[in-house]
Formats: sequence, structure tokens, C-alpha cells
Amino acid sequence: MAKVTVIDHPMIQHKLTIMRDKETSIAGFRRLLREIAHLMCYEVTRDLELEMIPVETPLQRMDAPTIKGKKLVFASILRAGNGLLDGMLDLVPAARVAHIGIYRDHETLQPVEYYFKAPSELENRLIIVVDPMLATANSSVAAVTKLKERGANNLRFLCLLAAPEGIRHFSEAHPDVPIFTAAIDSHLNEKGYIVPGLGDAGDRMYGTK
Ligand code: PRP
Ligand code: URA
Repeated sequence: MAKVTVIDHPMIQHKLTIMRDKETSIAGFRRLLREIAHLMCYEVTRDLELEMIPVETPLQRMDAPTIKGKKLVFASILRAGNGLLDGMLDLVPAARVAHIGIYRDHETLQPVEYYFKAPSELENRLIIVVDPMLATANSSVAAVTKLKERGANNLRFLCLLAAPEGIRHFSEAHPDVPIFTAAIDSHLNEKGYIVPGLGDAGDRMYGTK
């Protein structure tokens, strides 16, 4: 099983409750997702390794900590992943970005891939895959499979809401990829939506319903 971390910080939980409210505006939904991304980014990067580098302060030279290794890669599953991506980039502006265009067919719930663009060297970089919703996990499993085919070997998956069914599926497919989520909801309904959930994340972010 993949390791699952529920980030239950009160600020995240409070903001998530407002996002779930069907009366929350598009602008509010987008802003809250970006703010939650800041808080979740803090947790998902908590254990990054540091190394000491020399720096000249106005007073003297010292050795100070900096994040070790190659630049992070954030991989956004379009469309809704971009809502988390924006907030992550606020905190790590130098991160490299992969865009993975996948939507799920409404009838079959199978992933349909329509775009993929990623930095050429994915091996030995930390790649944080972001998508607010882990429902059946068909989309995220496909995205991670694609990244692994391109050499990725150090991945984490960050979402806002997960269904138990999705966690099970993702863990079986990619037991090496830890999952970070703000909440695990009850179940999926017959149309594959997370219950109680927050509805269709992409539609609520971009006003496309
Ligand atoms: C949503 C969501 C995930 C996917 C989750 O995207 O952003 O990518 O569904 O469902 P799954 O775990 O069952 O695959 P959607 O397919 O609605 O595409 P969109 O973001 O372009 O609207
Ligand atoms: N995708 C969403 O946007 N919401 C769900 O509840 C399930 C999949």
C-alpha cells in the first residue's frame, strides 16, 4: 500500500469546508484552492533534504541551508490540477512544470489523454503530481504511469479530496507513490463522483457547467 497522509491542519480544513459549499462563488473557489495549495505545499515538502552553502550577509560570511538537489517538478493533471499548481508555484517559483492533459470519459470513467509536456529529465528529481480530486484514480494512475515511462522514479501525489476506492486503486497501481490529501470522503456515487465531495472541481474553478 502507498503511504497516505491526511493533512488535517485547521486552516486547510476550514477553507475546504467553504469550498465544499455549493454557494461558494467561482472566484472564491479558485482563491481558496490556491491558498490551500500554499498550506499543502508546505507539508508535502516538509522532509526535503537541505545542504549548506556559503552566503555573505551584510555582516559576515556564513554557511546557510538551501534545498539540495535538482529543481522540483510539479506535474499538473489538467484542468483542475492547475488550481493547485498556481499555489504551489507561489511557494516554489523555480520549480519545473509538467502538464498532463487527461479527462475522464463521463460514461466509462476511463481516462482520455490529450496532452503531455514535461521537462526532459525526470529521473532522480522529486515530482509532485497535483490534482484536487482522486475519485476512481483512473486519471492519476494514468498520469503517474506516463511519468514513470518517461523516467520518473521519485513521485508524490497531492490532492484535496480522495475517495477510499481511489486510494485503493492508486495504491495497488503505484505502491511507491505516497498520497497527500486534505480529506478522505465516504464513497463514490454511481457516476463516479466523490460523496459528499465538492462537485466537479474543473467546472467549479472555471465556470464551465
Ligand atoms: C477530474 C479531476 C481528476 C479526475 C478525477 O477531472 O480533476 O482529474 O476528474 O477522477 P478519477 O479519479 O475518477 O479519474 P475531469 O475528468 O473532470 O477533467 P477536467 O479537469 O478537464 O474537467
Ligand atoms: N472529478 C471531480 O471533479 N469531482 C469528483 O467528485 C470526481 C471526479
